[in-house]
Amino acid sequence: MAYKTHNNGELRLADVDKKIILSGWVNKRRDHGGLIFIDLRDGSGIVQVVFNPESSLESHAKAHSLRQEWVVKIEGIVRMRPKEAINPHIATGEIEVLAENLEILNPSLTPPFEIVEDKEPAEELRLKYRYLDLRRQVCKDRLILRHKVMQRTRRFLDEKGFLEIETPQLIRSTPEGARDFLVPSRLIRGKFYALPQSPQLFKQILMVAGFERYFQIARCFRDEDLRADRQPEFTQLDIEASFIDEEYIYSLMEEFIKVLFLDILGIDIPIPLIRISYDDSLLRFGTDKPDLRFGMEIRDLAFLSESDVKIFQTASTIRGIKASGLSGSRKEMDELTEFVKTKGAGGLAWFKVEGGSLSSPLAKFLKEPELKRIQDRFSAEDGDVILIVADKKKVVEQALSELRLSLGEKLGLIKEGFSFCWIIDPPLMEYSEEEKAYKPSHHPFTSPKETDWQIIFISPEKTKARAYDLVLNGSEIGGGSIRIHRRELQETIFNSLKIQEEAKKEFDFLLTAFSYGAPPHGGIALGLDRLIMMMAKASSIRDVIAFPKTQTGTCPLTSAPFSVSPAQLSELGIKVL
Ligand code: AMO
Repeated sequence: MAYKTHNNGELRLADVDKKIILSGWVNKRRDHGGLIFIDLRDGSGIVQVVFNPESSLESHAKAHSLRQEWVVKIEGIVRMRPKEAINPHIATGEIEVLAENLEILNPSLTPPFEIVEDKEPAEELRLKYRYLDLRRQVCKDRLILRHKVMQRTRRFLDEKGFLEIETPQLIRSTPEGARDFLVPSRLIRGKFYALPQSPQLFKQILMVAGFERYFQIARCFRDEDLRADRQPEFTQLDIEASFIDEEYIYSLMEEFIKVLFLDILGIDIPIPLIRISYDDSLLRFGTDKPDLRFGMEIRDLAFLSESDVKIFQTASTIRGIKASGLSGSRKEMDELTEFVKTKGAGGLAWFKVEGGSLSSPLAKFLKEPELKRIQDRFSAEDGDVILIVADKKKVVEQALSELRLSLGEKLGLIKEGFSFCWIIDPPLMEYSEEEKAYKPSHHPFTSPKETDWQIIFISPEKTKARAYDLVLNGSEIGGGSIRIHRRELQETIFNSLKIQEEAKKEFDFLLTAFSYGAPPHGGIALGLDRLIMMMAKASSIRDVIAFPKTQTGTCPLTSAPFSVSPAQLSELGIKVL
């Protein structure tokens, strides 16, 4: 009993006069005079089916009862559409199928939303009825893209000699800076497993074991606040290699990106990708994830601290950007001032270039050479507006970075396309005001750049890491580092981070492994969901995941997380407070 001899979306003129069997879902039904038309959808696409009472009275009568999303099987004959009925918008638009027999395989309730391409229901509803949402071609296309990325990735790395090795999901803990999801052990009461934040420790252990090229398409779990590009459960392309340096990782990933974009999107990404130092990126873009699709670079104006303007005298950092295309009206400047205030800055100083010189309420407090120097710093011309923030360094960076992005969008400066860059030489550690301690800026297994380790204790913030991030259009899509492979240095880093004894015990197994001949090694992990989201030009990471969680970490389809019965809890020795 065949359900189909052909896929709906693949029928073409060459199939005309063939007797065929199709199965699928009723996408739409239209009654036209004596004829009934349905758009029949299956995994491959849509084809038009016609029920004519003259061909089959019985099928025509049955077709009256068809409703959206009913599952049907149709036997019929492919025929050419009359000229005026050709639909150039669909692949099967030149033909239709004249139905001779109709079998209803399964009726459907009326869907809670219309399954159409151009209307998107509320997200909660989409996720609750994800199986209906995923019937839309746009959703299908994104998962097909995801499949292609996965397959091409595996082939690429296999050809480069990488082995795909799975690492466990019930583990001790991996420090990637987020909270762990915990799983209680029933067999050993009172003890817990953590779900991996990444396979970091295991991939390093695999290097000690002598696998010189490892990869995994790894599921990672992080209990952190969610955003448009973050999920509690996400997928990394995780890579590690031995006897390599940074250059190996750069060229491997560049070749990978080139192959992936060319084969899947037909887009040629020029390589090598540009490299920007972390310090330079903060200076020029105010962020370590610069969007290079447009200019509007930040300029330093430290010389203004010697001016008579009080806010410039007291601020530790004075920087600004130049925007062309703003009206420069008072109202607009007030709006921009409000904008930077929401980003933490105290205010915004602005200057308009008019008649070759700067005008601003602040201009009268500045000397002519100072005004000239500001103008020269930006090569500003008539019509340009210069926007300056003076504050603590972090505040200035954040405010100008956000202002730059917002203006880039408002002024339509962001070019189509994919702008990649490497951000290199980040600091090894960052001071956390919250915890009043230094924290690793990548993770504590990252090798310092300096060979004189003692400098880590003297000036931790000046020590650079052998780490790198891969950034695409202002979004961090990957990060990695050359690791520490010597036990003594790893212990030195733990000590300098003042990692507590308890936490140190956590990594004892790694230190022990390092004592048995660990090779020099390093690697990287790409956020596959993020990369695919950008390749699909989707606006949310949820669009490229079959069953994603909402912003609050729930699954409306299955109602997870869920309450557990007292019996189940007691078996685990757990009481909920
Ligand atoms: P890192 O923590 O930078 O590095 O993660 C690598 C990449 O994973 C993606 N990513 C996420 N994607 C979606 N949702 C999230 N919650 C999320 N968190 C991270 C980002 C990020 O760049 N073990 C190291 C890698 C290494 O050193 O080799 C690691 O996990 O795109």
